[in-house]
Amino acid sequence: MTDSKTESVQEGAVDEAELSNFVSWTSRLVAACRAIETAEPDAVCSDPLAQHFAGAKAMDYVGTFAREQPQQAAAMLIGLPAKPGQKRRVSGIAVRTCYFDLAILAACNGNSSFAGIECTQPIRQVVLLGAGQDARPWRLQLPSGVRCYEVDQSDVVRAKEILLGRMGAALQTEDNASAQFPLAAAECHRLSADLTLDGWPAALEAKGFQKSQPTLWHAEGLLNYLSAAAVEKLLRDLSQTSAPGSLFTATMIADTTLVDQAARHTEQRFRERYSSVWGAPTPPDKTKGFMASCGWRVLEMTEMREAAQAVAPSMQCHFFQQEKEGDFLYYFVTAAVALHTGS
Ligand SMILES: C[S@@+](CC[C@H](N)C(=O)[O-])C[C@H]1O[C@@H](n2cnc3c(N)ncnc32)[C@H](O)[C@@H]1O
Repeated sequence: MTDSKTESVQEGAVDEAELSNFVSWTSRLVAACRAIETAEPDAVCSDPLAQHFAGAKAMDYVGTFAREQPQQAAAMLIGLPAKPGQKRRVSGIAVRTCYFDLAILAACNGNSSFAGIECTQPIRQVVLLGAGQDARPWRLQLPSGVRCYEVDQSDVVRAKEILLGRMGAALQTEDNASAQFPLAAAECHRLSADLTLDGWPAALEAKGFQKSQPTLWHAEGLLNYLSAAAVEKLLRDLSQTSAPGSLFTATMIADTTLVDQAARHTEQRFRERYSSVWGAPTPPDKTKGFMASCGWRVLEMTEMREAAQAVAPSMQCHFFQQEKEGDFLYYFVTAAVALHTGS
């Protein structure tokens, strides 16, 4: 099997924005998925920076996959046009993007009406964990005063900064007037760190992060790349770095999904790489208890299909095959820090 953790990924080798391994390269693949959805006339998410973040090679990679294996691609990466009498198939990536756009905005606006979000006060500090080429600090209509922090591996952060420069995105609001993509956040800071190791919270504080302020921690497409022990350590580190009122949002994949369905639903070269990096077992029936033991009170768990019905009711989404109604395979979690909540 390919050693995906150390392999130099040729597809990602885009001059100075080269990425060092397959996990890093996935940041550009999901950007390509967002770019493809953005171009749809009835797109469920809009990310005008995504095409720039993806680059030609990731766009080509996803496009080739879509041509060669349209059903599988439609489940994960891109949509499929509606057949007569049927709904359009929207990709899982598009659904998760839209779902967390709404969750992040609900938290920042202090609005409890989405995803079980509970806000004692509107969140003004958002940390994107494994941020990859997430463009939310530029593309979301954030209320004023929201500070964003993006944490990722050093090669991904380096690539992101090069790509932001190339596309003419503002790195600070002072540059907004002349920028192609103005910064929507009041501030946006990037931190190169391995989230499985010690020390990143202190490094984040050195960037201006305020531990005393309620924070929204968002981990989209991250936990599945970490071992179970690393997920547990990260969740504990997060709760210990959280002021009262802090929230956590994330994608999770059931372990059975990894073993059985990732294999059936992905093309060979994708599968070999993913099966060696998708690590964290998060059995859905244990998620609440597991998260409670790490200092988090689960507010809501939403399966992908249910999320799709909420954000794109005129479309259908089949990310993984459910054996029975109600199975949690690929799901979204919102949680509140247990500290000071009385739970
Ligand atoms: C599939 S991408 C998702 C990126 C982004 N959240 C999104 O949804 O567009 C996974 C990201 O997790 C990052 N990542 C994986 N392991 C990490 C670690 N140990 N520390 C920091 N970032 C990590 C990768 O570098 C990559 O950018």
